[in-house]
Order: sequence, then structure tokens, then C-alpha cells
Amino acid sequence: MRDKLFNNQSDIVDFRFDESVVSVFDDMVKRSVPGYEAMIQMIGLLTRTYGKDNSNYYDLGASTGATTLALALNNKNANVRFLAVDNSVQMVDQCQQNLGDKIDNLEVICSDINDICIENASIVVLNLTLQFIDIDKRDALVTKIYDGLNPGGVLIISEKVHVNDKNEQAQLTELHMDFKRANGYSELEIANKRQSLENVLLTENSETHLKRLSKCGFIGSTCYFQCLNFASFLSVK
Ligand SMILES: C[S@@+](CC[C@H](N)C(=O)[O-])C[C@H]1O[C@@H](n2cnc3c(N)ncnc32)[C@H](O)[C@@H]1O
Repeated sequence: MRDKLFNNQSDIVDFRFDESVVSVFDDMVKRSVPGYEAMIQMIGLLTRTYGKDNSNYYDLGASTGATTLALALNNKNANVRFLAVDNSVQMVDQCQQNLGDKIDNLEVICSDINDICIENASIVVLNLTLQFIDIDKRDALVTKIYDGLNPGGVLIISEKVHVNDKNEQAQLTELHMDFKRANGYSELEIANKRQSLENVLLTENSETHLKRLSKCGFIGSTCYFQCLNFASFLSVK
């Protein structure tokens, strides 16, 4: 369904992944996140390289399941469990509906990702999810993921990032708005969504992400993809 959620003048409330968002999510994410499809494709490629037999693949903040599907379609390994986790009941229902009959060994779990146990993992993905976690909880979450990965396992993070230079940031923001305009969003929709996300989607710069990954144990992390202000990082344990 086409995303028209912000196409009116009513009071703007903080963004939530509720019923109304779930019904338009797939359209919204493709028209709002530059490079979204490439991000998912790359996660599929990384699965082929880093997936291991007898291990767990986690998709944290799975939404409607696009990343979990890429993990499953690219999996070459035996005895793998796919764990798709989200704390939105409506997202979890939609994910189960989308993937339930497509993926064997799938568990769709409704939980805060801060509360789940990560174990025996060869792949953990936070695709556009860490940005919605309280900043003061991010270190603990990344440390927990590091601890739950097997040696050689990977954490893949995609995030909206900012840059510190004001002019450069303004240029990236303008280009992102152009991307949304080109995808059919009006000025009103862009402004309303921006306001709705303001206190909910908390960006950090790439250096902060890389420093956290290092502090939490990952020896080498790379930013392997960036399209405007959206970046993907690969960290190998
Ligand atoms: C932008 S969407 C992620 C998109 C998805 N990973 C994909 O690749 O299409 C962010 C998701 O994270 C979920 N989320 C946010 N905070 C969460 C938390 N603390 N625990 C679990 N899920 C969370 C939201 O419900 C939402 O579905």
C-alpha cells in the first residue's frame, strides 16, 4: 500500500511502528531510504560469506521481514535457525505472515532486542534499527551481540548517520529531501515525517559507530556501503 501517512495537517506525534506504519512500511522504506534495496542485497551477499553450519542468524528489528528473507535466500549452510525479532506486535504479525511459509527453522519473536539472549550466532543484523535504540543502551546491546557471536561471526549495522560539518550535513539533508521528492513525497509529507521522527530516530556519526564497535570488542570494522546519509558497517569477531 502507498505511504500517505503524513499527507495531512493534523498534529504530529512521535513516530511509532504501529498498525498504520506496518501497512505502508515496504513502500515507505524504499521511497525514504536511499540505497535500501542495495543494503538488503549486500546483506544477502555477506550471508554467503559469513554464514556457518549449526548456527543462528539474527535479524534485530526485523519489521516486515525483508532482511530475514535475504538471509534465508542466500543461506548455503545446514542446520541454521533464523530469528527475526521486533517489539512491534503488528510488525511481528506481518513478518510471520510474510515469511512463515517461506523459511524453515524461522522464529519470529516479539521482544525488545535489549532483552533477548544472543547465542551461537554467525550473523547478527541491525538494519536501520540501532538508530531507534536509546543512545545510552547501545553499548550494552553491541557488547551483548559481540559476546553471542561465534569467532568469525559478523555484526552488520545499517544506520542513518550524520556528519559534524554543518555545510556538509546541510548538503546531505537537501539531497535526501530531493530523493524523497523524486519518489513522490510532498513538502508537507517530508516536513511532517521529519518532525515525527525528531525525538525517535537518534543519529550518530560514523566515527561514533566505529569507536563503539571497537570498544565492544570488534577488532576491525568497515563502512562498506554509503548512500547519502545512510551507511552500512561490517564487523567481524
Ligand atoms: C526501520 S525498521 C527496520 C527495517 C528492517 N530491519 C528492514 O531491513 O527492512 C526499525 C524496526 O525496529 C523495531 N524496533 C525499534 N526499537 C526496537 C526494540 N527496542 N526492540 C525490538 N525492535 C525494535 C521497530 O519496531 C521497527 O520494526
